[in-house]
Amino acid sequence: MNPIVVEARNLPSHVGIIMDGNGRWAQMRNQDRVDGHREGSAAVRRVVRAARKLGLRALTLYAFSEQNWARPDEEVDALMVLLREFLLSERDEILDNGIRLNAIGNLGRLPGIVRAVLDPLRSESSEKTEMTLTLALSYGGREEIAQAAQELAVRVAQGKCKPEEVTADALRELMPSLRVGDPDLVIRTGGERRISNFLLYGLAYAELYFEDALWPDYGAEHLYAAIESYQQRERRFGLVGKAAAPLVDGVAKNDVRLAG
Ligand code: IPE
Ligand code: IPE
Ligand code: MG
Repeated sequence: MNPIVVEARNLPSHVGIIMDGNGRWAQMRNQDRVDGHREGSAAVRRVVRAARKLGLRALTLYAFSEQNWARPDEEVDALMVLLREFLLSERDEILDNGIRLNAIGNLGRLPGIVRAVLDPLRSESSEKTEMTLTLALSYGGREEIAQAAQELAVRVAQGKCKPEEVTADALRELMPSLRVGDPDLVIRTGGERRISNFLLYGLAYAELYFEDALWPDYGAEHLYAAIESYQQRERRFGLVGKAAAPLVDGVAKNDVRLAG
């Protein structure tokens, strides 16, 4: 097989991944859902390495949604233990590779066993600048928007901000998920074509890539394929595309006028 070559120019700066399909991966093997989550941790390791090697500036991984708390207790508990193990085992690699580890979401809901390893690693890595790895934990895009709106409402009530200063940019400034910039590319694994409450506000002009592979099977080559697809797209941000030439007398300037 030919090696995949990813062009270094036009890389997405911020990539978000909805890591889905762990449960189905396990079910297909008649295994416990938790076994799928364990394999999923190994995929996280592979993808973080690949992203760092590619030179991405920011990688945001959707690891646990605010809505995922409603899953059976055994599954939630196992996910928390796996998260703790992941942070413990990756600590050195994160620090040695200049990665800043960040977390977004309702972190107050996370159990002490997670906070005890997450918080020190966040502060220890806070000066690292090669890549920001953000874990979305107990995260919801709607909840993040509501939180920012609430903050602005308080400022208005206190007279620190005028109602007309409640703008799209002011809201954006208050969203932790967008401190690394809007996501350029958002990938979802596991075959579903939906967003499931991930980075809603920042998604406005993100390129979307849906991957059928289940998360435990995901690796560097899948990430490269998504980036290759991204590099072939033309982002327009509501403007006119490169291909659209100005019209002269109602005819595109570069169009060939046929006789008659
Ligand atoms: C994603 O895999 C991991 C989390 C949501 C925590 P799922 O557990 O959602 O796997 P499926 O979608 O049931 O296969
Ligand atoms: C999205 O997957 C959340 C994460 C990957 C952490 P879900 O499995 O929770 O989403 P739905 O339920 O299929 O929409
Ligand atoms: Mg799922």
